[in-house]
Amino acid sequence: MEQRRIIQILRHGVPDETACVRGWVRTKRELKQFSFVEVNDGSSLANLQVVLDPELPDYDTLVKCLNTGASVEVSGTLVESPAKGQRIELKATTVTVCGEVDSETYPLQKKRHSFEFLRTIAHLRSRTNTLGAVFRVRNAASDAIHRFFQERGFLWIHTPILTASDCEGAGELLSVTHFDLADVPRTEAQAVDYSRDFFGKPAYLTVSGQLEAEVMAMAFGNVYTFGPTFRAENSNTSRHLAEFWMIEPEMAFCDLAGDMDLAEDFLKYLFNAVLEACPEDMEFFNQRIDKGVLERAENILRHDFERVSYTEAIELLEKADRTFEFPVEWGVDLQSEHERYLAEELLGKPLIVYNYPRNIKAFYMRLNDDEKTVAAMDVLVPKIGEIIGGSQREERLDVLERRIRESGLNREDYWWYLDLRRYGSVSHAGFGLGFERLVQFVTGMANIRDVIPFPRAPLTIDF
Ligand code: 4AD
Ligand code: MG
Repeated sequence: MEQRRIIQILRHGVPDETACVRGWVRTKRELKQFSFVEVNDGSSLANLQVVLDPELPDYDTLVKCLNTGASVEVSGTLVESPAKGQRIELKATTVTVCGEVDSETYPLQKKRHSFEFLRTIAHLRSRTNTLGAVFRVRNAASDAIHRFFQERGFLWIHTPILTASDCEGAGELLSVTHFDLADVPRTEAQAVDYSRDFFGKPAYLTVSGQLEAEVMAMAFGNVYTFGPTFRAENSNTSRHLAEFWMIEPEMAFCDLAGDMDLAEDFLKYLFNAVLEACPEDMEFFNQRIDKGVLERAENILRHDFERVSYTEAIELLEKADRTFEFPVEWGVDLQSEHERYLAEELLGKPLIVYNYPRNIKAFYMRLNDDEKTVAAMDVLVPKIGEIIGGSQREERLDVLERRIRESGLNREDYWWYLDLRRYGSVSHAGFGLGFERLVQFVTGMANIRDVIPFPRAPLTIDF
């Protein structure tokens, strides 16, 4: 008998067809004439209702074993469902319990569990409605990301996870070493002797694939990466992870305006794709997680993003009739309270802030003619704040060398990056979209730890 995914049966199954499904029991109801078991195989939010007739062989033992969480294989015939809210159900002819569950100890009971509790059972939480919906949306968004870039002729490149250079210069690098930490080799001056470590020099987990993406853009024009990045940020917030996925396009022969256009098209494309691929999951988020999810999605699709310079943004914040925890004046970095005020309260839609002060941004961003600002841009969205950070890159060798020096970085570490400015340099630009922040934004999930299967954060690395 043909094995089918439950989503396919719920959407396209017709009465009298035979079908076989495999999945996990969500609930069981024992009635006098029949028993009902809801089975979920992860393909959809909705379960398939399986009807068990007492005529089935070993009916009593079978029903006893069909506890929440048990894995089953069911074959039978599809019948029209008399129950409300579902079109079709499966009348079982054979049921095999593959793996039983001790219902005394199974942590996922029928009741609603808090997300905090679910984080302590990350190995089981994907079997809940909410996490199931999150990871289906995550999958749909990943798929759409590749389609977006492939349709536009961008080359998908793979940048290294292990690196010797700090792209952002923010000192948030996690070290990678092969030393026995109880016996670290030292130089005569008692400094750590990295020449004897695995790579012969200090090595780290990458914070961004950008520098390598720039290398590849100088050969292929338009490229993108989609991979994990790591930051030892000690911020225990609902928007920071120590390991997160980032999408980084890089475009040669492109300036800041082109970069902003791509970022806006990209976000719109992703929203549209998720709404199309996961309508039931999105409806669920709208009903159960955040009532504004669908309206925000519509809003994104229908309206242009506002574009304001950093200087204008500061003026808007100074005019706001409220006091911020972090005072505002030209030159300060925007805090999440500022970003959210602009996106959520003032404009009620995404905005792109550009031309930030050079002193608060990374060394590689192109210096503007005013010498005070750089051609940087951040996309800020309601609820989240910064979701994308990008810039036009400094393509002039002399200016870049100066900026590396001023930023206190080691020029020798960047010799190959500087070479790009010596051999066929061209204006280019790109950005990084934090994938988990995107999934948060799309689904309305409050905590970033609930949109990645196995979150890594300070003191959090189980599973
Ligand atoms: O603004 P960021 O630091 O930009 C870069 O890394 C650039 N090199 C990207 C580029 O131009 N190619 O980070 C980009 C995005 C942020 O806007 C945010 O969405 C996300 O990455 N992000 C994080 N997401 C989760 N946890 C963290 N700790 C994050 N730090 C940044
Ligand atoms: Mg940033």
